[in-house]
Amino acid sequence: MQVARTREELWSFTRPWRREHLRVALVPTMGNLHEGHLALVKAAGGQADRVVTSIFVNPTQFGAGEDFDAYPRTLDADRRKLAETGCDLAFVPDLQTMYPGGLDDVVRLRAAPSLANILEGEFRPGHFDGVVTVVARLFNLVGPDLAVFGEKDFQQLLVIRRLVEDLGYPLQVLAVPTVRGHGGVALSSRNAYLDEVELAEAGYLNVVLREAAEKLASGAADRAAVEREGRQRLEGAGLRVDYVAVRRAADLAVPAADDPAVRILAAAWCGSTRLIDNLPVSHD
Ligand code: PAF
Repeated sequence: MQVARTREELWSFTRPWRREHLRVALVPTMGNLHEGHLALVKAAGGQADRVVTSIFVNPTQFGAGEDFDAYPRTLDADRRKLAETGCDLAFVPDLQTMYPGGLDDVVRLRAAPSLANILEGEFRPGHFDGVVTVVARLFNLVGPDLAVFGEKDFQQLLVIRRLVEDLGYPLQVLAVPTVRGHGGVALSSRNAYLDEVELAEAGYLNVVLREAAEKLASGAADRAAVEREGRQRLEGAGLRVDYVAVRRAADLAVPAADDPAVRILAAAWCGSTRLIDNLPVSHD
């Protein structure tokens, strides 16, 4: 596997690929790679001739008081894992490469408000603006035909689909189902912050969502009751809940009774770690 740190190094690999009409996939990450990320890389490899994985802890998507400084940075291990998973190129830019104007004087994008200001956006204002700002830069630098994102960050996936649609990027977005570890916990780099007791609590998030999704799907309870009960159960297990929400999968609006695809999403704190998870209630 090759590594590129600058735009010029990146283009020295991607330009020849493009001349050969190879299909290029991009897997954007913030590093500290786990099996969830590697599933994205594998999915990318299944649909493209070359896979680029970017590793950049993006400051513009972290709010004040969030964990930007503490975010785990494990570049050597990440490189090994990527090489073993069939990634062709790791793009590891520094701040100057991604934000040449510096953070104070730089072009920023604003994510579609109807998607970006609800749920995660309500609790992390500006988060998705930072995400679309960095992802657009990565799209421009790498020029992928395919970009791969995890369903674990379901709202982010929809925000990025809108970015692609609204700015007319000529690329396909591929969504990969969430990879879960012991006790059904959705794999996340932030799980590294959890101690053993908190990891068990984190598993409860998945249990509650799964049971809630089953209840809704069987018609045993309505949306509001499921959201209320989910919140109560999580709080009862010691988690501090930001939201439990049943939403239309296409745009995260409150679903109508006959909406074909519905998702249940939640965010909750395990001690000082904020976790998110989501599950499909029904598919198209
Ligand atoms: O999902 C992530 O890890 C990040 O939000 C992303 C898409 C790499 C942008 O920094």
